[in-house]
Amino acid sequence: MLRLRNFLDQHCENKGLIQVIDGLMVACKDIAYKVQLGSLAGVLGSAEKENVQGENQKKLDVIANDLIKSALRGMPQVKGLASEEEADPVACNPNGEFLVLFDPLDGSSNIDVNVTVGTIFSVLQSNPEDDATHEATYLQIGREQIAAGYVLYGPSTLLVLSTGKGVYSFTLDPRVGEFYLQREKIRIPTTTKEFAINMSNQRFWLPQMQEYVGDLLRGEDGPLGKRYNMRWIASMVAEIHRILTRGGIFLYPYDSREPNKPGKLRLMYEGNPMSMLIEQAGGKASTAFEDIMTVEPTSIHQRVSVVMGSADEVESVVNYHRS
Ligand code: AHG
Ligand code: MN
Ligand code: MN
Repeated sequence: MLRLRNFLDQHCENKGLIQVIDGLMVACKDIAYKVQLGSLAGVLGSAEKENVQGENQKKLDVIANDLIKSALRGMPQVKGLASEEEADPVACNPNGEFLVLFDPLDGSSNIDVNVTVGTIFSVLQSNPEDDATHEATYLQIGREQIAAGYVLYGPSTLLVLSTGKGVYSFTLDPRVGEFYLQREKIRIPTTTKEFAINMSNQRFWLPQMQEYVGDLLRGEDGPLGKRYNMRWIASMVAEIHRILTRGGIFLYPYDSREPNKPGKLRLMYEGNPMSMLIEQAGGKASTAFEDIMTVEPTSIHQRVSVVMGSADEVESVVNYHRS
């Protein structure tokens, strides 16, 4: 079995990037340990604080953020970081080359019910003259990412990673504290009969999205001609992992609940890294109007409409929106 570090040494020429991924995994192993201990470690429940998005922070959101932040700050390769739980970017090492953007704990509404959560990360390269305290330094399109991945804290702890040469997954052996290579060059089936969307928002979607989902529900009698199955875990990491395993489509589309927010998910540390993994595995990732990874960011916390997964199904959603 190939250890993560050996895999990286063989597959990644960028030695600095290897250090960054290695360092991130030290923090993620610590998060995995705390998630597993749960109430025994006193980590469940609310932190009684709000983040910059106005969402209630869980204790584990704050703990995971602090662990990753201190790991990254200690790395000479890292110039700066941006996190869901930090209002502003955080400068790290002025001589560092990389910017790391992350969602420390995705799916945090699931923490207290012992359902899968995860950490999502995106790595960008910076220019030597860039100032890591400036938001503009981080505002690169998703296609500029040099690595993206997530760590899923489920029945097993897994790392799913791409450095732009396919998608690979690794399972943590908690007995020795090492990630081992499990799946290589993961491919998503092109077609699917499984969708994931929070149906409770149906009345707030655009008419085109209502029409598409209406047709999904009509199954083999509708224009899509197939009987579909539905899943909703409310952890994007878990949904994307299912799609990387057996195909499917994940949607968190634009809705009019809060008209100034184009969707719920955040472009820089949810939409873009997941889009890179999905595309690297042969799937598609769209806002329903354009590729997510071509969206020009205007702020580190901006939201984006998300439609990603099996290529043919995503293409079908895009076609509904052409009309
Ligand atoms: P986070 O916990 O980082 O705020 O993200 C949660 C996201 C995503 O993981 C999930 O798909 C979605 O929010 C769930 O939304 P609903 O509450 O609408 O189900
Ligand atoms: Mn999230
Ligand atoms: Mn989060």
